[in-house]
Amino acid sequence: MLGIETSCDETSAAVVSGGRRVLSSVVSSQFDLHECHGGVVPELAARRHVTAIVPVVEQALRGAGVDRDDLDAIAVTQGPGLAGALVVGMNAAKGMAYALGRPLVAVNHLEAHIYANWLCDAPNLPEEPVFPILCLLVSGGHTELILMTGHGRFRHLGRTLDDAAGEAFDKGARLLGLGFPGGPAIENAAREGDPHAFELPRAWLSGTHDFSFSGLKTALLRVTEPMRLPESDREEVNSGTSHTGPFRAHQAPVYATSAPIADLAAGFQQAIVEPLAVKTARAADEFSARTVVLAGGVAANTQLRKRLKQEVLELCGPDVPVAYPAFAYCTDNAAMVAGAAAWIIRRGDLVGWEADVHPRLPLMQR
Ligand code: KG4
Ligand code: ZN
Repeated sequence: MLGIETSCDETSAAVVSGGRRVLSSVVSSQFDLHECHGGVVPELAARRHVTAIVPVVEQALRGAGVDRDDLDAIAVTQGPGLAGALVVGMNAAKGMAYALGRPLVAVNHLEAHIYANWLCDAPNLPEEPVFPILCLLVSGGHTELILMTGHGRFRHLGRTLDDAAGEAFDKGARLLGLGFPGGPAIENAAREGDPHAFELPRAWLSGTHDFSFSGLKTALLRVTEPMRLPESDREEVNSGTSHTGPFRAHQAPVYATSAPIADLAAGFQQAIVEPLAVKTARAADEFSARTVVLAGGVAANTQLRKRLKQEVLELCGPDVPVAYPAFAYCTDNAAMVAGAAAWIIRRGDLVGWEADVHPRLPLMQR
């Protein structure tokens, strides 16, 4: 199965066998293009996908040592994502599927993130996650608590009411002048920090499985504002950026070297991780989940992995394992798309040529 993923700012293609074994996975990042803007610029993303898609697909086929005629089907992310970016992948996939006479599989990006937990690139495949699975899906655009009762059977338990967890990391990193993407930047900065140095709020939203992170972001803004250097210093420091082009450059705030950025990053990270881990463990207990899985870009966060393991062990005991994808398959990649597609084919959900991108596609409830 060839998978193609172009929903946001990574152009990716991968070959996966049987929904589990990754034969190749190529991810071409657009980091250099968006960094100076402090976030993804949709128009730039779409244009870069156009030039990157063919070489990325060719590299994935070469890496897997397969010929295009060896492919059984072509899978592509249908949504959710940026419309202009999704269209590039969809058209490439349709073109290939049509030319090769193979079926086209349209994959929900959120479902693909969850199925990243079935992927493996080592020779021995580990055990599959056992249903019912409690899944915490945490990415740049989504934060959802999902009960998965079987293949393709998802039930929403809760979601964020405002910012997604990854978005909170990204906005927090901007406020701290740590760059983009924010998750890894905050995680690195937090290593030397004391998470208890600053009191930052957690929105528990008791009695629900929902989350909220916008208050935390505002709290961080209040704490950091008085620490920033005056405007004049800021421009001087920023004048060396390599920004060109029609889109607005991001002016990062600048702090004195003595500012407690590590402590703030550690406190901010913990204020995101704690409600995610505690509420996921509670839901796993309530719904008698047999496995807890993490998915999405924020699943790469080591503190979240650690804390979730602790909470699940405490509440559900040692018989409920916590799984997460390998780092490479947490953030956007096409291996998860090709992986999910195998399970979609098994349940007979193929699409026709009329399939179109769906920028706001929700995870199917059934
Ligand atoms: O899944 P993903 O690659 O794209 C979306 O579908 O949104 O997730 C990207 C998000 C970004 O917000 C990024 O800051 C976050 O995942 N992220 C992390 C880490 N690595 C990526 N957040 C926290 N810790 C990380 N190590
Ligand atoms: Zn994603």
